[in-house]
Amino acid sequence: MAERETWATRTGFILAAVGSAVGLGNIWRFPFVTGEGGGAAFLLVYLLFILVVGFPAILVEFVVGRHTERNPVGALIELGGGAWKFIGAIFIMTGFAILSYYSVVAGWFIRYFVEGFRDSYASQLAGYEDIAAEAGEPSAAIMFGELSTGLDAFFFHTLFMALTIGIVALGIRRGIELAVKVMVPAIILLLVGMAVWAFTLPESGAGYSYYLSPDFAVIADNWVELLPAAAGQAFFTLSLGMGVMITYASYLGEDRNLSKDGATIIGFDTGIAFLTGLVVFPIFFSAGIQEPGDGGAGAIFVSMTEAFATVPGGHILGVLFFGTVAIAALSSAISLLEVVTAYVIDEKGVERWKAALGMGGVIYLLGVPVTYDLIFLDMLDGLVEGILLVFGATMLMILVGWIAPKFAVQELEKGIGDLGGLGTAWIWAVRVPLLLVLVVTLVLGVLGYYEFLTGTDPDQLYGWLQDQGYL
Ligand code: PHE
Repeated sequence: MAERETWATRTGFILAAVGSAVGLGNIWRFPFVTGEGGGAAFLLVYLLFILVVGFPAILVEFVVGRHTERNPVGALIELGGGAWKFIGAIFIMTGFAILSYYSVVAGWFIRYFVEGFRDSYASQLAGYEDIAAEAGEPSAAIMFGELSTGLDAFFFHTLFMALTIGIVALGIRRGIELAVKVMVPAIILLLVGMAVWAFTLPESGAGYSYYLSPDFAVIADNWVELLPAAAGQAFFTLSLGMGVMITYASYLGEDRNLSKDGATIIGFDTGIAFLTGLVVFPIFFSAGIQEPGDGGAGAIFVSMTEAFATVPGGHILGVLFFGTVAIAALSSAISLLEVVTAYVIDEKGVERWKAALGMGGVIYLLGVPVTYDLIFLDMLDGLVEGILLVFGATMLMILVGWIAPKFAVQELEKGIGDLGGLGTAWIWAVRVPLLLVLVVTLVLGVLGYYEFLTGTDPDQLYGWLQDQGYL
């Protein structure tokens, strides 16, 4: 068997892992789930979850990957035995599900980027004014409605998947490391600039208080919804619960300090999401949108085009913003396809380019319905973040905490040194309290998804089917 590839540079791993973590989860998903969760109350639960569960969980994936040097399925079988191949299969399916709609959403960003070359965002919005006035909605919302489904969306979904497949087919070193190097600094710079501008808006104060001052009564009343939503977002944004971090750590040397790397990755990822909120919410309130939860999947597009239509230089800023997010999405998409591809290469002995093309092709097809109606986005996204990722993380906690705990602390200590009581504390945290939190979260997630499937509102599956006349 050929020697397994490793990262070309010491920073290659960090860059790629940050590249995987930072993506649509931070910039597209974070603002709208925060809005749906009521703003600051959601933010607080989310941050707690990142710190208390996210950090130990990322370490779990790291030690599993580096120790086994395998793809997630192979790694689980090696540590847990043959029955774990079914859990591994769920990881691979989760990758399929995420990437299928991820690509459609990423396609929207490319679309908005390309649109900026046609005309300024201000004049584009002006073009939707009449329909908007009639519908009583902001022009930016009408524009999003027009571009997010149909032939446009289909075309850009195709383009994005083609790019992703191309990079993964080229292999780890040449493709992934290069792509990520420019993106993270660019996105931070842009977001900081936009946040400073958002600060000067007339209603920014209302945005900040919505986003930053939590009402504990709201948390106490709504924890049944807040907990699974915050957990799902935390795992999604950190690329946890389906084997990306296992796969990336499997290409890693033993000299890396995993806990330092984990903290760095989480720091960047959380920082970027937080910054996005500092941009979006002041803009929302200044644009007169008082219910940031109503924006749904379009929230970031609506708020940002509003912004780029008004700020001086907004045209150029907009092109830069949408372009950068598309690149950030690409580096995450690569990681998703890499998991699936690595599995086929390792376990089935298929050539890399064939694996990438075959798996990518299936994922592409799965995404097509999303370009038809956004209910399919809710269906896939809800399944992923409400159930699959939390399930995956729960299984990993069981595996490392209960079934194969011995290797874990030793593996973590490589590249760090003797951890003393900290290593034991980590394993015990994984074993009992974290596992309990995850199980409760999972149950709530399943109940929530059941409600989505059977609910009679038009934005729930049953209701949508009725609404469309299928039932
Ligand atoms: N973390 C990525 C993001 O925030 C999405 C992702 C989830 C990537 C799971 C890989 C695995 O956009």
